[in-house]
Amino acid sequence: MKRISSILSLSLALFFVLLTSCTGPEGPAGPPGKDGKDGAPGTAVCGVCHESSSFLLAKQLQFHNSLHFTGEAFATANRTTCATCHTHEGFRESLTTNLDTALAPIPHPTGVNCRTCHNIHTKYDTTDYALTYTAPVKFRHGGQTVDFGTGNLCAKCHQARIVSPMPAVGGDSITISNFRWGPHYSMNANILAGVGGYEIQGPNPYPTSNPHKTQIKDGCISCHMARPYGTFAGGHTFKMTYESGGQEFEHVVSCAQSNCHPGATKFDIDGKVKEIKDLISQLRQKLIDKGLLDVSRNTTGNDVLNEYIMLPGNKPKKFSSLEAGAVLNYLLVAKDRSYGIHNYKYTKALLVNTLNALQ
Ligand code: HEC
Ligand code: HEC
Ligand code: HEC
Ligand code: HEC
Ligand code: HEC
Repeated sequence: MKRISSILSLSLALFFVLLTSCTGPEGPAGPPGKDGKDGAPGTAVCGVCHESSSFLLAKQLQFHNSLHFTGEAFATANRTTCATCHTHEGFRESLTTNLDTALAPIPHPTGVNCRTCHNIHTKYDTTDYALTYTAPVKFRHGGQTVDFGTGNLCAKCHQARIVSPMPAVGGDSITISNFRWGPHYSMNANILAGVGGYEIQGPNPYPTSNPHKTQIKDGCISCHMARPYGTFAGGHTFKMTYESGGQEFEHVVSCAQSNCHPGATKFDIDGKVKEIKDLISQLRQKLIDKGLLDVSRNTTGNDVLNEYIMLPGNKPKKFSSLEAGAVLNYLLVAKDRSYGIHNYKYTKALLVNTLNALQ
């Protein structure tokens, strides 16, 4: 039926074409109409960002030096319990679901990228660079809510995972059944906030405030994204240090900004970084001597992220609350890797009081 009717309408159309071609010659052309208003060139909207300057390029090249871009953890950490911190897709999903786990594994995961932190290609103007997340963050481990300004974006991912089971100070022994027990590798925000440790009492009181939290408006971002050194540190590299000629350099620009530490030439401005490094190695040795810390996976000696609680054969084992708490405190301050810069007093109190309790 359909076919027949389309054949019919086709012949009808042909008929009209023949008919109109039989009319008389065309009259003279009328005067040209008024010029219309110029339309925007098709590429203008793109040129807001994709223009010939290096505004965007600089950020891209910096970012290509960031572990966010070079890291590979997202490939395996696309599971529901990992994806909200390790994959772009899981993170953006969590901002709408408000959940700490993804609804399903991410089939085609991408790591942290421009679109994780910025909207990109939404309104096609500079508002696309607005940050995707800025609200205060409620910690998974401990449940405290913190506010680091725009640094909340970083704290959303760079926070400890739930420590389970968590030893209570003076409490019962606990059974640990996986060597990966602890705060994961991402406790920077907890340390900056000064929470989450096994706060055993001792010679050093636990501080109630931290100048690197109260006096730095945007937390992580103020230091880690300070004026860049080339494309190697600061800015979108998020790096505090860089290598050149086989040597490591400290990006002290962030310390010297806003007259915080004018003229700073190194992170260890007053010997406190060295003090914390020494305390960390003392506690590490003590835990090794007591058979509580497994450093066998740290094959280079430089890979503190691969140190764990000692769990022979990865079989469930009982630990006194002090034993587990001491390991927890070590993992927190050592894996933070700021050596007290994120929070000197809290880091020192955890170290001194733990060493004291283990005497
Ligand atoms: C507000 C800034 C902005 C505007 C406006 C904008 N872009 Fe982009 N565009 C970006 C950013 C940022 C990226 C990601 C770069 C990266 O991943 O390194 C990007 C990436 C791209 C890419 C690479 C593929 C991709 O999607 O990641 C293409 C192609 C592209 N843009 C085309 C366009 C076109 C065409 C327009 C205009 C219709 C446009 N962009 C408008 C910022 C913008
Ligand atoms: C969506 C989660 C997420 C957000 C948001 C995020 N990060 Fe990360 N960050 C990660 C992950 C995951 C890695 C490690 C990637 C890997 O190893 O594969 C990482 C790596 C890093 C590293 C490198 C650490 C090292 O071991 O050298 C720094 C520094 C860092 N992030 C700082 C920041 C700062 C500052 C912000 C805020 C501007 C931020 N991150 C925002 C997830 C995030
Ligand atoms: C709360 C957010 C969060 C969750 C949940 C999370 N991670 Fe991570 N993870 C991070 C961050 C941030 C880093 C980067 C630490 C750094 O390099 O400073 C990281 C680092 C890692 C690393 C690299 C360690 C190394 O030695 O370089 C691995 C592997 C990893 N995570 C696997 C996982 C897996 C698997 C899961 C799920 C079972 C998971 N993560 C869940 C935030 C998270
Ligand atoms: C981990 C989060 C994160 C990622 C990934 C990220 N950015 Fe940013 N970006 C930020 C933050 C935070 C700021 C604000 C920095 C500040 O306040 O100084 C920013 C600022 C910017 C700005 C300046 C905006 C302005 O209004 O001046 C541009 C442009 C930009 N980012 C582009 C990019 C591009 C391109 C990528 C990918 C190659 C990218 N960003 C990846 C967090 C991120
Ligand atoms: C006062 C400035 C300052 C603030 C605020 C700050 N950091 Fe750092 N952070 C540092 C310095 C300095 C180091 C490096 C110490 C070293 O390598 O000797 C560091 C180390 C790190 C590391 C270890 C890997 C690396 O880059 O060396 C990560 C990851 C990290 N910070 C993330 C964060 C996150 C996330 C926040 C916010 C919750 C934050 N930092 C807040 C200064 C800061």
